[in-house]
Amino acid sequence: MTGLELENICVWLNGQQILHDVNLSIKKGECVALLGPSGCGKTTTLRTIAGFIHPQSGDVRVSGHSCIGLPPNKRNVGLVFQDYALFPHMTVAQNVDYGLRMRKHDRKESLLLVKEFLEMVQLDHVMDRLPQSLSGGQRQRVALARALVIKPDILLLDEPLGALDRKLRDQMQVELKQLQKQLGVTTIIVTHDQEEALSLADRVAVMFGGGIREIGMPQDLYDYPQHRDVMDFLGGSNLLRCNVKSVQSNGVTLTGPGGFEVLIENNNHKVGDKVLVGIRPEHLSIETSGDMSAESAIRGIVHETVYKGTLMEVLIKTADGEIFRASISPRSLDKLRVSRGEEISLVLEKDYLRIFKE
Ligand SMILES: Nc1ncnc2c1ncn2[C@@H]1O[C@H](COP(=O)(O)OP(=O)(O)OP(=O)(O)O)[C@@H](O)[C@H]1O
Ligand SMILES: [Mg+2]
Repeated sequence: MTGLELENICVWLNGQQILHDVNLSIKKGECVALLGPSGCGKTTTLRTIAGFIHPQSGDVRVSGHSCIGLPPNKRNVGLVFQDYALFPHMTVAQNVDYGLRMRKHDRKESLLLVKEFLEMVQLDHVMDRLPQSLSGGQRQRVALARALVIKPDILLLDEPLGALDRKLRDQMQVELKQLQKQLGVTTIIVTHDQEEALSLADRVAVMFGGGIREIGMPQDLYDYPQHRDVMDFLGGSNLLRCNVKSVQSNGVTLTGPGGFEVLIENNNHKVGDKVLVGIRPEHLSIETSGDMSAESAIRGIVHETVYKGTLMEVLIKTADGEIFRASISPRSLDKLRVSRGEEISLVLEKDYLRIFKE
C-alpha cells in the first residue's frame, strides 16, 4: 500500500521555480532518503509535504488521500530538523507532550504516551530537565520522540543528525533505523551524507535542480546508476571520454585516455560515437610497470598518493594530462611500493563500467 505520493509537484517561490515536476511514491513503512547538492530543493520538498508550502500544481497524497489545501496541523506529519527546534522553556516531557496537547489528546493517556516514547529513545530519566541541560544527541532524541509520539502517518527528517559528531551519528543512525522499522512509519530523511543515505534508507532518491533525477535501492543505485551526475554525486567516479573504435557482432570497442581500450557488450553505438565511461575509484586496481599487459587499463604516471585512513587514493596522470583516481587499501599499496612519477596502469573491473551518452 502507498504511504505517500507526490505527483508532478511544481513550486514557485518569489517568482522562481524551485520544484519541477517532483514525482515520488513511497510504500507504507518505507524509508526513503533524499540526497542532493545544496539548494536542489530537498527542504522545499519536505515543507511541501508538511503543508508549510502550497504547490502551484501537483498533488500530495497520504495513504491515498489528497491533502492539498490542508494546513500543517491538519496533516498527521512528524517533523525533525537539524537544529532540534525544541522549546527551551519547556521540560523534555513538556516538549514531547506538545503535539498531543495541540491535538487535544486525552491528558491521562498523553502522560503514558510521553513516558513510553521517552523510554523508547532511552531518555525517560531526564524527562523533567530543560533541553539546554542535554547533549546534542540527547536533544535530537527528544526531537525524535516529539515527532513520533503523535503517531504520524509520515515522518519527515531534515538532516536530523547533521549537528552530531561522527561517532554519535553512527550510533544514532542505528537507533533511528531500528525505531523506524519497529514503528513502521513511512519516512523521508534528508541528508548531505551519502553514506548515511545508503545505510539508513530502503531506497535513495537523488535530486538535482528541483527534480528527482533517479531513485533506487541503495546498492543498485550505487553500483548501476543511470545518470553520470548521480554516479558522481554518490561516491565519486572517474569519467573517461571515449570513442567507439569498432563495432563487432559481440559488442563495441571503445578507446580512451591513457591508451585505454575495452570491448563492451553493447550494440547501440556506431563507429565514431562519443561516450563517457564511468568507473568508481574502488573498482580500479593498480599494476606496476613490470606487468602492463592488461586490457582495459589506463596508463600514466603516479601523480599523487593521498592517505585517507582506511583507503589510499592514488592519482595517476596520463600522457595527455588527464588525472584519474583509484582507491586501494594502504596495505596493498605498501606491497606495490609505487612512488611519485613512476609508470603504472589502472586496470578497470569491466563489470562495473557504466556507459553514458556524451
Ligand atoms: N522562501 C523562499 N523564497 C525564495 N527562494 C527560496 C525560498 N526557500 C528556498 N528557496 C530557494 O529554493 C532553492 C531550494 O532550497 P532548499 O532549501 O529546498 O534546498 P536544499 O536542497 O534543502 O538545500 P540544503 O542542502 O542547503 O539544505 C534554493 O535555491 C533556495 O534559495
Ligand atoms: Mg535543506
